[in-house]
Amino acid sequence: MPEYTLPCMLERDTVSLGKKIGTVLFPGAFIALYGGLGSGKTTLTRAIAEGMGIQGMMPSPTYNLVTEYGGKDLALYHFDAYRLENVSELLDIGFLDYCYKNGVVIMEWADKVLDALPKERLDIHITGCGNQYRTMVFIPHGTAYTEVLKETVI
Ligand SMILES: Nc1ncnc2c1ncn2[C@@H]1O[C@H](COP(=O)(O)OP(=O)(O)O)[C@@H](O)[C@H]1O
Ligand SMILES: [Mg+2]
Repeated sequence: MPEYTLPCMLERDTVSLGKKIGTVLFPGAFIALYGGLGSGKTTLTRAIAEGMGIQGMMPSPTYNLVTEYGGKDLALYHFDAYRLENVSELLDIGFLDYCYKNGVVIMEWADKVLDALPKERLDIHITGCGNQYRTMVFIPHGTAYTEVLKETVI
């Protein structure tokens, strides 16, 4: 499937889409988020978490490379590569093990660790910041992710 674009997303659109995505994810799902500071990666992640039945996921006061949450059916491993110096730092904390835990992995700033990402994944590129509308481009890598898009955005 080719990429799919949603333009003109208000914050409430980001949130309702995220919640929907959170209900259709499967064990081992991987979502890679791309976009500048304030584009809405964490906002989308929080909404996905809510869709997975995770209550009260707050932006952590201190920066964490990975934060774990227990969902209704699946665990969520939320990575943020913003302050990462290099990919080996990610591998050192057992990134590959997280990918095989049969939970859901979400990676913010995925472009910083592109080489380490699994081939099968859903890429979501977000553009826009501040009060502007966001545009989201979805690129499914693998049929499972095409299905996720069919059930949510298409
Ligand atoms: N359409 C939108 N989608 C997502 N966030 C939005 C949108 N419009 C405004 N915002 C605001 O933009 C900010 C996005 O911040 P955040 O999700 O932390 O971004 P990032 O994780 O990409 O740095 C939040 O303050 C949010 O309220
Ligand atoms: Mg963020």
